[in-house]
Amino acid sequence: MTGAKLIQLPKIEDNRGNLSFFESSQHIPFKIQRAYWIYDVPGGHSRGGHAFKKQHEFIIAMSGSFDVNIDDGFEKKVYSLNRSYYGLYLPAGLWREMDNFSTNSLALVVSSTEYDDEDYIRGYSSFLDYKGNAK
Ligand code: TYD
Repeated sequence: MTGAKLIQLPKIEDNRGNLSFFESSQHIPFKIQRAYWIYDVPGGHSRGGHAFKKQHEFIIAMSGSFDVNIDDGFEKKVYSLNRSYYGLYLPAGLWREMDNFSTNSLALVVSSTEYDDEDYIRGYSSFLDYKGNAK
């Protein structure tokens, strides 16, 4: 059980174009402190190969598609995001890596904390040590 969760967001369909939204209190299990986005990813590249100690995140494929590969030290799971009205909630303490970005894809990430380099666990073996699961 990684604790990751896909959350469906409102979709207001309209023949002028659709509209979706999220509100921190209603749709996201944390208070938003920061947003960043990943774009112009060259074919075959991956981003975000790390874990966080404290921060929670919510990831949306605003445009195009990509995969979010999750690992809690015991179980691995792949979420393919390709709709802008679904977001993936990730609690702290998960190894996560994003890959398979389609051309012109845009990943929006909202986070429960401001940027803090100290919150990062970089390196998979450090992550396993952190989880108390080093082989
Ligand atoms: P990082 O999260 O390490 O991305 P990836 O794991 O995909 O390589 O971020 C890359 C760089 O961007 C790093 O030097 C820190 C900087 N950065 C910020 O300054 N603020 C932010 O909110 C984020 C996410 C990154």
